[in-house]
Amino acid sequence: MGFGMGLNLLLLLAMVATNILSLYHLSSSLQSKPPATPVPDYLIHQLNTIRATISHLTSLRSASTTTPTMTSPPSKATIPSDLLLYAHISPIASACHNHPDLLHRYMNYTPFSLCPPDTDLSEALILRGCHPLPRRRCFSRTPPKSPSSVPTNPFPSSLPDSAILWSTYSCKSFNCLNRFNDNLGFEMKIESSKFLTMKSELDLTIPQLLSIAKSSSSVIRLALDIGAGTGTFAARMKLHNITVLSTTMNLGAPYSEVTALRGLVPLHVPLQQRLPIFDGVVDLVRCGHAVNRWIPTTTMEFLFYDVDRVLRPGGYFWLDHFFSKATDLERVYAPLVRKLGYKIVKWATGNKTDASGIKYGEVYLTVLLQKPTTK
Ligand SMILES: *[C@@H]1O[C@H](CO)[C@@H](O)[C@H](O)[C@H]1NC(C)=O
Ligand SMILES: *[C@@H]1O[C@H](CO)[C@@H](O)[C@H](O)[C@H]1NC(C)=O
Repeated sequence: MGFGMGLNLLLLLAMVATNILSLYHLSSSLQSKPPATPVPDYLIHQLNTIRATISHLTSLRSASTTTPTMTSPPSKATIPSDLLLYAHISPIASACHNHPDLLHRYMNYTPFSLCPPDTDLSEALILRGCHPLPRRRCFSRTPPKSPSSVPTNPFPSSLPDSAILWSTYSCKSFNCLNRFNDNLGFEMKIESSKFLTMKSELDLTIPQLLSIAKSSSSVIRLALDIGAGTGTFAARMKLHNITVLSTTMNLGAPYSEVTALRGLVPLHVPLQQRLPIFDGVVDLVRCGHAVNRWIPTTTMEFLFYDVDRVLRPGGYFWLDHFFSKATDLERVYAPLVRKLGYKIVKWATGNKTDASGIKYGEVYLTVLLQKPTTK
């Protein structure tokens, strides 16, 4: 108890403050004038809930800041500890208030005209947990050209520069991106070879994956790729008639646009957001490079349990090339993965041999897990 409690209380208070204000206006105007229409029951109910929460939080705060000898009996409506924990890592509905400078810039535009060229600003806000962003009343900017035909091949020989608004990126063409790093997902010659060959134990090819699923009579129709880049996993699966949703952020390059140009579905969703998918409807979730040791462990734990939520019984969870420090793998991450209680279909570790891997003593972990059919 007590860790970051003050902060959490503030965040929760901020969350309800806006609601309180609007309801207060409603109730004070009701006191001064006879109401034309009665206040709907649900609003009264909401107001009572908010009042109860505030008075509860206030009593908690005074209990923790006044005499420690005070041993009041625990109140009936204690705040669930997971709500406090979650509010600490991703403040519910108040994260936007934590970045007023960015939010002010984002909402400072001329209504009913062309939106400012500020997709980098929305990206920055979303990555700081301000999601969903407020809506705006302006017209979105459009690239000079739109695709004129249905993409039949998700590995096109070239990508049209004219389909992208380059203004917020430092590169102004796909050639530039590929010269900078041809492994970002924009060089289709490289993308078309991915998921097909096994270079080490850490790889799982799509043919292997499909044969594993087939041998356990498990059908893969619908999958989710978290941190999907330009959607290459979805592209390869599409050739097997499997639909894959790709979550991708536009970090310095047009990942979402290119996923769409390939005829795939880009979901603009940060890692800390609850997956916009109903419970138990997905056959496979894959996490790529984006899920790694830089994600706070608690955030990762909430992510894993959200993956569990969307997976159907018997569905697969594939953690692909997760990297961490070697010392943390057995201490932190392997227990986190095992805690799910899934069947381990594949478990492979290996040294990460690039510059940062050698510098920080990092290792890779690739696991394929199968969700139990009964819980
Ligand atoms: C995908 O579906 C198309 C059209 O139904 C079919 O012709 C093709 O053989 C299927 N491909 C695979 C790999 O199942
Ligand atoms: C991985 O790295 C560790 C520590 O640097 C080393 O002891 C081990 O032999 C390496 N393993 C392989 C398979 O290269």
